[in-house]
Amino acid sequence: MKNVKVFEDTAKLNQEAAEFIIATANKAVNVYGRFTIALCGGSTPKGLYELLASEPYRSAMPWEETFVFWGDERYVTAATDDYNGTLATKAMLGHVPIPEPNIYPVPTHLPLAEAADAYDKEIDSFFEGEAVFDLILLGVGEDGHTASLFPNSEALNEQDKIVVATTAPHKIAERITFTYPLINAADNVMFIVAGNSKADIMKEILNGEAEKYPAQLVQPEGNLYWYLDRAAASKL
Ligand code: 6PG
Repeated sequence: MKNVKVFEDTAKLNQEAAEFIIATANKAVNVYGRFTIALCGGSTPKGLYELLASEPYRSAMPWEETFVFWGDERYVTAATDDYNGTLATKAMLGHVPIPEPNIYPVPTHLPLAEAADAYDKEIDSFFEGEAVFDLILLGVGEDGHTASLFPNSEALNEQDKIVVATTAPHKIAERITFTYPLINAADNVMFIVAGNSKADIMKEILNGEAEKYPAQLVQPEGNLYWYLDRAAASKL
């Protein structure tokens, strides 16, 4: 099931996304006793992360029972601002009562292939062999990539591993990313897309040729949500 929601502006998008995350988290904790989420990187989610760390959202989240992973990571040291984990820590995780052991950063201190393999095994072990996230947050690049699944990359064809090392046509080329088997097993996947720069690709993705871009191959078992601001939806 695909839900496309367009919000007046980025602030409203972030509020609605925060409310959805909180509702999903509390429902998961009621049913499973925990909430598992994979965060996305890039710049779009910064406002959402900051909002979740502020009242009333902060107190509404079951942080004690929340377990955080990343859908992709740049292969840089964890101390730099290019590391997706840094954005989430500075904007949210460093300001909320989430137990440190509940946070699973990508181990980029290891050699690239080892880091991907270690994260793959860590997620597999955490979920006891059947990795199904309650929620995976994703962004979209102007080239239609999502997580670090870029057009024409080998990672798009991976059907066995749930995490792989890959390369990006960006200045930070070495990446670690969830693969489609992991993303598409999720109970909920939410794309968060904002700004005029995403209007063209969003028109292609939602109204254009099917399965042309990596983001279009996100077809989860569970629910798929597209949360857009008006600017990103302006050419739909
Ligand atoms: C990353 C992200 C990537 C991001 C998109 C959108 O590591 O950069 O995970 O997939 O979500 O590139 O990035 P912006 O939000 O900065 O436009």
